[in-house]
Amino acid sequence: MFPGKVYTKRREQLRQLAGDGLILIAGNEESAMNYKANTYHFRQDSSFLYYFGINKPGFYGICDSESGIDTLFGNDFDMDDIIWMGEQPLVKELASNVGVGASASLKELSSVLQSAISSGRKIHILPPYRGDQQLALSDLCAVSIEAVKKFVSEELIRAVINMRSVKDSFEIGEIEKAVEIAGLMHTTAMKMAFPGNYERELAGAIEGIALSHGGPVSFPVILSMNGQTLHNHYHGNELEEGRMVVCDAGTESELCYASDITRTFPVGGKFSARQKDIYNIVLKANVETIKASLPGKSYREVHLQAARIIASGLKDLGLMKGDVDEAVASGAHALFFPHGLGHMLGLDVHDMEGLGENLVGYSETIKRSEQFGLAYLRMGRELEPGFVITNEPGCYFIPALIQQWKSEKKLEQFINYSEVDSYLGFGGVRIEDDVLITETGSRVLGTPIPKTVEEVEATAGA
Ligand code: GLY
Ligand code: MN
Repeated sequence: MFPGKVYTKRREQLRQLAGDGLILIAGNEESAMNYKANTYHFRQDSSFLYYFGINKPGFYGICDSESGIDTLFGNDFDMDDIIWMGEQPLVKELASNVGVGASASLKELSSVLQSAISSGRKIHILPPYRGDQQLALSDLCAVSIEAVKKFVSEELIRAVINMRSVKDSFEIGEIEKAVEIAGLMHTTAMKMAFPGNYERELAGAIEGIALSHGGPVSFPVILSMNGQTLHNHYHGNELEEGRMVVCDAGTESELCYASDITRTFPVGGKFSARQKDIYNIVLKANVETIKASLPGKSYREVHLQAARIIASGLKDLGLMKGDVDEAVASGAHALFFPHGLGHMLGLDVHDMEGLGENLVGYSETIKRSEQFGLAYLRMGRELEPGFVITNEPGCYFIPALIQQWKSEKKLEQFINYSEVDSYLGFGGVRIEDDVLITETGSRVLGTPIPKTVEEVEATAGA
């Protein structure tokens, strides 16, 4: 974990920002896979990690804004726990490691909450996203699940988003460590891209790299020759010469900070001329918009710049037509680039998405669009120094979407459907980097991972 004073300072700031009342930050519990003792990989709640730093199940933290006292609640291990799981520091020792002076059992948490409720004090919680968390909160507060929802506090959500959006140097260091490991994952996948290998061999190898470096992966590995499916988790195909693989994967650092990187590479190591054309359009969108990601600029503007680069490239290839600005304003590019340019990255791969996508990614002045494509942009707001974002433009040929638009003659003034038909079966290309917004511009985190056609060809299938 980070030095204890990092957490002390964060909680102090949180108490000031969230206003009067008791701030309850719930940690996660183990989650059963098929019976209670056989659990999924344990993942701590990210806000609990941020304010209390303890990566173990069964803990809650309270920050009391009036008294200024922070308390860690949890139960010490009993002998059965010690026999099966080994010894663990006492709750008071865990608390002191993160600068928390007071600790108590979960039974005491229940009394603290119930007496605060009966005396009319404000309780602030973050939106629960697991069923067991809702049940536990309802039990601890002795109120119904519906009543628990009333404790979800917009003041607390906004305070947490304000704080977690701006990464300090410790956090940036953690994300960079995760990006370094992702670099190894991606170059390994590229090297294994031989005809006859199965997608699952690549996916398994790179997940193993994450695990062997302390992982796990920061989200289920996306790796497929059918890259036109944006989040393709099926890994059963045998790699074929002439196809490309989209690999979107990252890992968690020891302190649970994520990386999220995408590379697209040819099976057998050589792009065809057509693949190179599309690849270079996406690469240009990636490189140019990273340069354009400046503090003060809205990420929606940067996204629209990527859309214009893609539309203009596709126009040069005869797939789109008409005025590029008008095509993008009408959303025609979204036939090929139907998702957003990126999202915040941090303790969550889509950072803080559980707190509300629009509260994280939009502002008073920049609201989410409802237009197809642009509506998927998770991050539209003004960039600030310390933000870490992904930059992940893509270009895809999605047969069902193309057929639907073509049958509706949708935006046919901007799309050459007969030419587009000849790309059915092409798949997709996506290129993604993790980018820090600095005081003056932006910086791609980590050691560069092969990205140009030449660099990828020199690595893939080699
Ligand atoms: N890497 C998966 C995503 O950004 O949704
Ligand atoms: Mn991403």
